[in-house]
Amino acid sequence: MHPTLAFIGGGNMATAIVGGLLKAGRPAAAFLVIEPHGPQRDKLRADFGLDALPAPTPALAQAELVVWAVKPQSFAEAAQAARPWLSQALQLSVMAGVRSDTLAQAAGTERVVRAMPNTPALIGRGIAGLFAREAVTALDRAEVETVLAPTGRSLWLSHEAQLDAVTALSGSGPAYFFYVCEAMVQAGVELGLPEAQARELALATCGGAAALALQSPEPLATLRERVTSKGGTTHAALESLRADAVGAAFARAVKAAAARAEELGRPAP
Ligand SMILES: NC(=O)c1ccc[n+]([C@@H]2O[C@H](COP(=O)([O-])OP(=O)(O)OC[C@H]3O[C@@H](n4cnc5c(N)ncnc54)[C@H](OP(=O)(O)O)[C@@H]3O)[C@@H](O)[C@H]2O)c1
Repeated sequence: MHPTLAFIGGGNMATAIVGGLLKAGRPAAAFLVIEPHGPQRDKLRADFGLDALPAPTPALAQAELVVWAVKPQSFAEAAQAARPWLSQALQLSVMAGVRSDTLAQAAGTERVVRAMPNTPALIGRGIAGLFAREAVTALDRAEVETVLAPTGRSLWLSHEAQLDAVTALSGSGPAYFFYVCEAMVQAGVELGLPEAQARELALATCGGAAALALQSPEPLATLRERVTSKGGTTHAALESLRADAVGAAFARAVKAAAARAEELGRPAP
């Protein structure tokens, strides 16, 4: 059997996708993984029975879909090595900050999709923003959705620049969430709770609130107002957050992330 799915880079992201697809029934022989790091190849063999290759070979030309999962700073070197065997395949990049025209040029094909996933992808609970170049067909899009399904949900964007907003919102978002939870845990400890219990309370509350909001058609503001009776405890907390302009500070933070994403994606002069 020829490999139909190739991965350039066999790290965290590639492992999350490969692991999920194997679990969903794809045979190991369908995968070709290029991974220069010996210990990581050993891990792929131990976890999945996959024999990753240290460098691209002509077998790469058999792949129908090539997934780019190296760090952006390794991209130029990885692309140069793989270039002779790429141009027939659909290219899917999960790399942060490498523009689709850079990948199209490096791979010699216009069939390029960019994805911006986030870390919960590693446990199948991520959300990814996707952007397809014009040459990408409906069938290609369906294949991309199937390949990314083990990492969680995904949504299509109409402009590549929107990936910077996705990076700022959901890509970096897990860190904002941890930041808020850290502050909640710290406050809980200062109020007399053991740290383990404060952590459990904070995480279960945030996870539960997100699950509730996902199931509800109502605006977030309505959900918030419903737990905020006038003069009550939540009201006191929200008044304090407003007085500290926390909402505006958050909006500035997300915009700072988007500006940085745009800057990182700019081609070198
Ligand atoms: N992890 C996430 O949740 C997440 C979320 C959003 C976006 N992303 C993006 O996804 C991309 C991959 O992230 P990751 O977390 O999977 O990174 P990672 O775990 O570091 O995996 C990248 C792998 O590619 C290998 N590599 C380096 N140079 C290569 C080459 N020339 N050819 C083939 N493989 C090569 C690396 O080996 P060495 O260790 O030897 O360098 C490493 O094992 C990044 O662009 C990242 O920004 C990741």
